[in-house]
Amino acid sequence: MLPTFSPTASASATPPPRPIPGSYGPPVIGALQDRLDYFWFQSQDEFFRRRAATHRSTVFRTNIPPTFPFFVGIDPRVIAVVDAAAFTALFDNTLVDKRDILIGPYNPGAGFTGGTRVGVYLDTEEPEHERVKKFAMALLHRSAQTWPTELRAGVDGMLDAVEADLAKATGDKPSANYVVPLQQCIFRFLCKALLGANPSADWLVDRFGFTILDVWLALQILPTQKIGLIQPLEELLIHSFPLPSFVIWPGYYLLYRFVEKHGAEAVEFAAREHGIGKKDAINNLLFVLGFNAFGGFSVFLPFLVAKIGEASDPAGLRPRLREEVRAVMRDSGDAVFGFKAVREMPLVRSTVYEMLRMQPPVPLQFGRARKDFVLRSHGGAAFQVAKGEVLCGYQPLAMRDPEVFDRPEEFVPERFLGDEGQKLLQHLFWSNGPETTQPAAGNKQCAAKEVVVDTACMLVAELFRRYDDFEVEGTSFTKLVKRQPAPSLSPAAAGAK
Ligand code: HEM
Repeated sequence: MLPTFSPTASASATPPPRPIPGSYGPPVIGALQDRLDYFWFQSQDEFFRRRAATHRSTVFRTNIPPTFPFFVGIDPRVIAVVDAAAFTALFDNTLVDKRDILIGPYNPGAGFTGGTRVGVYLDTEEPEHERVKKFAMALLHRSAQTWPTELRAGVDGMLDAVEADLAKATGDKPSANYVVPLQQCIFRFLCKALLGANPSADWLVDRFGFTILDVWLALQILPTQKIGLIQPLEELLIHSFPLPSFVIWPGYYLLYRFVEKHGAEAVEFAAREHGIGKKDAINNLLFVLGFNAFGGFSVFLPFLVAKIGEASDPAGLRPRLREEVRAVMRDSGDAVFGFKAVREMPLVRSTVYEMLRMQPPVPLQFGRARKDFVLRSHGGAAFQVAKGEVLCGYQPLAMRDPEVFDRPEEFVPERFLGDEGQKLLQHLFWSNGPETTQPAAGNKQCAAKEVVVDTACMLVAELFRRYDDFEVEGTSFTKLVKRQPAPSLSPAAAGAK
């Protein structure tokens, strides 16, 4: 549980800033101890919860891995922020600098991005940030026409593969794992929609593109992730030194050449409309495609599918979602669900928001204080932050803040429905900003904030277009009940709504 603040505290006059509780421990030993807790003895969640409870504060000092012995020059000391009020300081670019701090004090380096410092590592005060962010948003805007159609094509391919696997499966409880088909689907649809490049034009890319991205992503982020290998092997082999980028260069350059050749139109658009040179354009395209989009969806969509597909379905969610999707289909038949159609599915959308609240795909957010400032939390609690200190916001706790959310630990699919639900959107932070603000060249909010939610809604809608019911266990489908044709549905209509 998070510590709560009493109503009397919130009513009283603003108290003066107090020192931030917690300590970094003795040099080297303190950081090592925190690292072992983080990766070995505690889960990430437990790490933050325990410290918040011990210090009776939602703002506290701790070390964050990676650290020691070969992460030279990386300072693991951070100020952890785990409540919804203080967390908002991380979105204020007058207070925090986001330079080279995407995954924390450790930066995997430009060796992974063809030598370019790509957009996510740029701070809003760097002029190049505006250029690259505008390019990313324009790219999404351009792709809006084909996005829903390509997504459906990808999802159809994925579900065809899953159905075939499930039909072949034997044993007491047949099941079909959907991770590989889902990743293929995400990769293919993103290449086509975002880059205008069809992977089937290059056999190697089509077959191995998503695996290359998986390895490329893993090498960058594994030093900061617990994976659950046998200890102490994981500590020795994965968390003790930066993983080398050269291992993935052949794969990266295969994708680079693919974008250069088959995504030439997008590369040319970057130069013509945004003044971005070819090499930087391709490296930024690959990062947006591979890290932001492929990485983000690969983490988030399985959470969503697994939650909705829970066999027990305690909230009776599936029948209600199906009814909502089918109601839209009654008007539009089998037409592709476009951006407008999924806006007519409030429960589907609220369910997606709730999943983003419970399982934010990018759980940690970092920022370096630009100046000395007072960090404010609930109830007037205030903490003095010094220039140069690193804030580390942990979203899964901030978005379960009992000061803001009723039944914070429960998955409540209808939480964001109605006027009251809409008000809560200001506390939904998955995109590195409140759900009620918009990404812009001058901020660091996810460029695809709207598109991500719409895409997740489209996936849910596709599942209920195709199936009357389904069940999922972990990352496998265990039951797929095909849709029985309803007499009231109009014949297949063309085009997206
Ligand atoms: C589930 C999918 C996604 C998630 C969870 C996600 C999440 C995020 C988050 C948390 C950030 C801020 C990182 C930080 O600075 O701390 C971010 C930034 C960004 N995202 Fe997304 N994202 C997703 C999909 C996408 C897609 C599909 C695109 C584009 C096609 C995209 C483009 C970007 C860009 C360009 C930035 C950098 C913003 C800036 O530097 O100002 N993201 N995303």
